[in-house]
Amino acid sequence: MIEARRLAICDPSNATREPLRNLLLGMDGVSLEAESNRYEYFSDVVEQYQPDTAIICLDTDPTRGLQLIAQLARSAPHMAILAVSSRSDGPFILQTLRTGAREFLPQPIQFEELQAAIDRVRTMVPSPPGTEINAAAPVMPRVSSLATSKIIAIAGSRGGIGCTSIGVNLACCLAQDKENRVVYVDLDLALGDSDVTLDIIPSYTLADIAMNIQEIDPKFLKGALSRHESGLYLLPHPMQLDDVGLIHEEHLQRLLALLRTGHTHIIVDLSKSFRPTDFTALQMADIILLVAQLELTSIRNCVRLLQSMGNVEGLSEKIYLLMNRVGADDQDISIQRAEETISRRVFFVIPNDSKAMLSSRNVGKPLIQFAPKSKACQAFIQLANVLSGKEEMPSNVYVKTKKKSGWFS
Ligand SMILES: Nc1ncnc2c1ncn2[C@@H]1O[C@H](COP(=O)(O)OP(=O)(O)OP(=O)(O)O)[C@@H](O)[C@H]1O
Ligand SMILES: [Mg+2]
Repeated sequence: MIEARRLAICDPSNATREPLRNLLLGMDGVSLEAESNRYEYFSDVVEQYQPDTAIICLDTDPTRGLQLIAQLARSAPHMAILAVSSRSDGPFILQTLRTGAREFLPQPIQFEELQAAIDRVRTMVPSPPGTEINAAAPVMPRVSSLATSKIIAIAGSRGGIGCTSIGVNLACCLAQDKENRVVYVDLDLALGDSDVTLDIIPSYTLADIAMNIQEIDPKFLKGALSRHESGLYLLPHPMQLDDVGLIHEEHLQRLLALLRTGHTHIIVDLSKSFRPTDFTALQMADIILLVAQLELTSIRNCVRLLQSMGNVEGLSEKIYLLMNRVGADDQDISIQRAEETISRRVFFVIPNDSKAMLSSRNVGKPLIQFAPKSKACQAFIQLANVLSGKEEMPSNVYVKTKKKSGWFS
């Protein structure tokens, strides 16, 4: 029998955290339980997930990284700490090991070196009973669903395009699966209506989070979310318009990073005014659903938005075009024509379903409860399957098809 190591990683830099995650995903006998991109929240992550091995990258801020190692060596003495750094001078390595790290790995990390270091701590610090795996069977890396948490930002190409309807219904469909833990963040700070759509009177809003940002930890946050009967958690927009100005980019950064540690899907309903907070969400998102309809204003705005977002590194490839209300009488542009104009593949289609949509909105219930058989709800169920990896993710890349030429074309 070999033991599965339960790992958590802390690296503020996406550029090095992602390759590290990929190495771990390809490694036998490890289970990646959680990730954090902030030194200051990693103790909370450790407390919540109780990993037996922590990998901490020191490059972003060696002083804070070392403080974190010292703190964890005291608070979690049975957890093995592996430090990673591109600094290779002897005094620094010695200081890191004296602070409490058991292994020092040079950046860039090599697969064999990482595997060997994990094997060494496996013998030094055995995993708690109950995590043994039969060595005869191939040990797949077990990534907890929380480790693969997705931030899905929903951006609209004009007002009233369907962002909240799509966000809320998608979120409730995702929440049906017991494996998922889904939270909805209403970033339409001034005029959001997710609370009305779900018929929830929230105890706390984004304004409370912003005002208590120094105190928030996973426990506080859990208590601040409102739970809908579908299993979805909600963090609504501020109730008072005056409080909108309290919420800044750094609040959202901290909030989304913390939500990532406890949720599989974080759905963020953006405002249509593309405020700095919306922009932060776009940058932190794993997937951006750009909602459009087959009419001129929406399609023109999609072209403009994609042009602007294309100027920001890393945004364009995350954008997935979602066509809403397809089949409505007042829309006479074809999907093919829209794709040609926007130069982006329509990734998913939600049919027009006015009766079900309007009535479910009026009673404050999501379609999965109010009209589960409606064609719109069936589309949301399928979209949820796609976004939780049960169905293949369609491409977002538009490939121009050449017009056939010849006698019979
Ligand atoms: N697929 C659909 N079929 C029929 N009606 C729809 C569909 N999607 C949305 N609607 C309707 O369109 C209206 C606007 O939807 P919604 O409020 O979700 O848009 P929004 O983009 O969030 O708007 P806002 O800009 O105000 O935030 C609602 O009345 C909703 O019922
Ligand atoms: Mg809305």
